Amino acid sequence: METLREIFRLKKELNVTIAAHYYQRDEVIAAADLIGDSLELSRKASADPNEYLIFCGVGFMAQSVKTLAPAKRVLMPRIACCSMARMIDGASYDRSIERLEAAGIPKENVMPITYINSQAEIKARVAKMGGMVCTSANAENIIRRALEAGKKIFFMPDRCLGLNLAKRIGISTATLGRDEAFASKDMIVYDGFCSVHQLFTPQDVDFYRDRYPGILIAVHPECDPAVVDKADFVGSTSQIIKWVQAKPNEQTIAVGTEFNLVNRLREKNTFVLSSTKPECPTMNETTLRDLLGVLKSIENATFINEIEVEEDERKWAKIALDRMLEIA
Ligand code: 13P
Ligand code: SF4
Repeated sequence: METLREIFRLKKELNVTIAAHYYQRDEVIAAADLIGDSLELSRKASADPNEYLIFCGVGFMAQSVKTLAPAKRVLMPRIACCSMARMIDGASYDRSIERLEAAGIPKENVMPITYINSQAEIKARVAKMGGMVCTSANAENIIRRALEAGKKIFFMPDRCLGLNLAKRIGISTATLGRDEAFASKDMIVYDGFCSVHQLFTPQDVDFYRDRYPGILIAVHPECDPAVVDKADFVGSTSQIIKWVQAKPNEQTIAVGTEFNLVNRLREKNTFVLSSTKPECPTMNETTLRDLLGVLKSIENATFINEIEVEEDERKWAKIALDRMLEIA
C-alpha cells in the first residue's frame, strides 16, 4: 500500500504516464494510467502528452512507443523481452528472404508483414521491402489489404497466428523450413511461436466441453490452429475481454490466454483453458517495487532501463507502424 501511494505521488509530481499491458500483474495494473492490448497501447502511449512514459510490458511494446514518439523518454521498470520477438533477428530475416529467392520468388514479389511482437530491426527491414506491421487486433484486415498488392505474403514471426489468419481468409500457406512446397503458396510463414499460448491444447477444449455442457471457449490467435478451430471466439486480448464481459454472469467460459488477464475476468463464470498456469514469464517479472524504482530514477535523473532505438532503424520501423495505423 505504501509503495502504491509513493508511486501515485511520484508520477503526479514528475508528470509521468504509466502504461501497462493486460498481462501485467494486478498490482501493476492498479498503478497504471493506460491499460490495453499492444495496438491500443502503441496508439494511446505515443499520443500521450507527458514527456516520460513508463511501459510495463515487454520490450517490443516500449520500443514501438519510442519509435512512434521519439521525443518521449520511454523507460521500463525491468528489461523484459517477449521470447517470440527474439525468434527472428536481422540475420534470420535476411536468410529467409534468400530462401524465398532461391525457391524462385523474387524479392520484389514479396510483401513482408511482421507481427508487432518483433524487434525494431525487423520492422525496419519489412518497411524497406514495402511491408508493414500488424497486431492480433487488426491482423486479418492488414493481410486482406496486403493481398491487394498481388504479392506473396511473408508473415513473421508467429507461425500459429499466420496459419490461423490464412485459414480464416481462405488462402494457401506453408511454413518456411517445415514444408518443402512453399513457393506456390499465397502466404509463407516464419516458424516462431509463443511459449505461453503453446500450452493450450485441443484436449483442454474437449475436457472443458465434456465437463461443463454449454461452456463457451475464447482463445488468442497465437494458439495452435487445432485449438482455434475448436473455439467459439478468437481475438486479441482486448477483444477477448469485451467478448467475455458482454456475456451473462451465469455463462461458463474458458479462456485460452495469459493467466493474469483471465484471472481478472473471474467475476464472470470464467476458467483458464489449461491444467497449467499459463503465465508469461517476462510479463510477470515487473513488480510494484520495480515501478517505484524506475520512478525514483526519473526523480534523481539516473534514468534506468531507458529505451533507445537507433535513428535510421527507428525511421524505417516507424514507416512500417504508420502503414498499419493508417489502415487500422
Ligand atoms: P495483444 O496484442 O492481443 O495484446 O497480444 C500481445 C501478446 O503478446 C499476446 O501474447
Ligand atoms: Fe510474447 Fe507470448 Fe509473452 Fe505475448 S505471451 S509477450 S507473445 S511470450
